Amino acid sequence: MSEMDNAKKLVGEEAVKYIEDGMKVGLGSGSTVYWMIKKLGEYVEQGLDVTGVPTSQTTAQWAKEFGIPLTDFSELKQLDVTIDGADEVDENLHLIKGGGGALLREKIVASAAKELIIIVDRSKKVAHLGAFPLPVEVIPFGWEVTANNISTLGCVPKLRQKDGEVFISDNGNYILDCPFDKIPNPKTLHKELKSLVGVVETGLFVGMTDKVIVGEGDEVEVISK
Ligand code: A5P
Repeated sequence: MSEMDNAKKLVGEEAVKYIEDGMKVGLGSGSTVYWMIKKLGEYVEQGLDVTGVPTSQTTAQWAKEFGIPLTDFSELKQLDVTIDGADEVDENLHLIKGGGGALLREKIVASAAKELIIIVDRSKKVAHLGAFPLPVEVIPFGWEVTANNISTLGCVPKLRQKDGEVFISDNGNYILDCPFDKIPNPKTLHKELKSLVGVVETGLFVGMTDKVIVGEGDEVEVISK
């Protein structure tokens, strides 16, 4: 296992310590979250009573595989904690998310939780957001117009492809990857993007994170807001 994968496993397993008996848990998406779900499955097998709300179809599959009971927002409106990964984390704990294309459901699930815990390897910590192209979920109809409008904010959006086909989100939308390079004011950019017709959601998570668990080598650092 590479050093980065080892760090992902370490923080994924560490995060499970924040899950208590009886909790309703938002289950994020991505390769770091995989380790959290796998470990949580072991705790459930030993008798821990938790219910999860998944942020993607892939996460739902993993949760089923590891025996974690799932529910949805028809049965509850608030979660105790959401644990998710990120593509970038800045010093204010603002995030870029959506590398896997699950940003809309991730944001809904994060916003429903009393606490948002982010798990990342050291490479995700940055001084300023933006080197990672910002994922923006858009309505497929007229995406070219939406992309053109986004470009006036200072980037050249690229329609996400996967295996030679246009990538379709779990919500049936497209993702535009927007290389802004540097995002000096994430809150303002998020608002500007959201005001454009056709934009469903952005991968900027501003002021939502309560705790970040960072892994490097065999070390774990916990940063609280
Ligand atoms: C999914 O859409 C993302 O927000 C992921 O949480 C993010 O891309 C981090 O993924 P990894 O843990 O695979 O790096």
